[in-house]
Amino acid sequence: MYDLSGKVALITGAGRGIGRAIAHRLAKEGADIVVSDIQHESAHSVTNEIIVMGREAIACVADVTKADQVQRMTDHALNRFGRIDVLVNNAGINLIKPMLQMTESEWENIFSVNLKSYWLCARAIAPQMIERGEGGKIINASSKAGKSPSRYAPIGAYSTTKHGVIGFTRSLAIELAPSKINVNCFCPGIVDTDMWNQIDREVSKLTGRQSGSSKKAALADIPLGRIETPEGVAKLVAFLASSESDYMTGQAINLTGGMEMN
Ligand SMILES: NC(=O)c1ccc[n+]([C@@H]2O[C@H](COP(=O)([O-])OP(=O)(O)OC[C@H]3O[C@@H](n4cnc5c(N)ncnc54)[C@H](O)[C@@H]3O)[C@@H](O)[C@H]2O)c1
Repeated sequence: MYDLSGKVALITGAGRGIGRAIAHRLAKEGADIVVSDIQHESAHSVTNEIIVMGREAIACVADVTKADQVQRMTDHALNRFGRIDVLVNNAGINLIKPMLQMTESEWENIFSVNLKSYWLCARAIAPQMIERGEGGKIINASSKAGKSPSRYAPIGAYSTTKHGVIGFTRSLAIELAPSKINVNCFCPGIVDTDMWNQIDREVSKLTGRQSGSSKKAALADIPLGRIETPEGVAKLVAFLASSESDYMTGQAINLTGGMEMN
């Protein structure tokens, strides 16, 4: 549907879940893929899946909270492909804990993965987009929780980081607009991945309710009556990675089945 042939996309957290689906979809649209993840095995297995699809792909195992590892990942990708046209900052973690019970290191860790890493990757990768002068796409993972706090789980710190991703996206969009680099973020509601299953399990443990009950409660609030698939999120990301979205920048796009409308 979108022509990404000749483009190179780097996706963080691409070893599973939404990141893996994005890697598959952008490859299907013709892009070559840099599969980045902190997990060695999953990064390599998704890379092999992309190669089987007939596209070029490399695995970059990196902890994206570390500037030196982000630089090594960027250098490796540029040595192999000579360019990165699309950066998808997708790596993320959650922590199911009321904010006032969190330790300083828990707070710093979730901010490092969900927010600092997005800046580190943009800082490392955008300069070669600017230098080439052909524009580029930076796509960040925010969340419905980046627009309004969750009523289903104590994920205040996560929600705070995802609000931060929207602010980061808007500010970076202004900084990079003169270079025709579009910066947008996607804000999913509930997506069927390990991350949401973990929320559901831990909330059940905390509340003594049956497993599946927080998913059920959230489902009742979704006008379209279903949770999203990782592939559904990847459709939106493919649009944002393509020239079809060239006039959009600084946007935080809901993908929530109507659960969030602001
Ligand atoms: N699942 C949902 O319902 C949902 C909803 C809204 C937003 N999101 C966001 O979408 C993104 C993907 O979510 P998901 O559900 O696929 O998550 P997931 O937990 O299934 O996958 C996250 C991936 O990120 C990787 N990762 C974690 N820390 C890393 C680090 N320091 N360096 C490199 N990689 C690291 C993990 O190894 C994993 O492969 C996240 O940013 C998440 O916050 C998810």
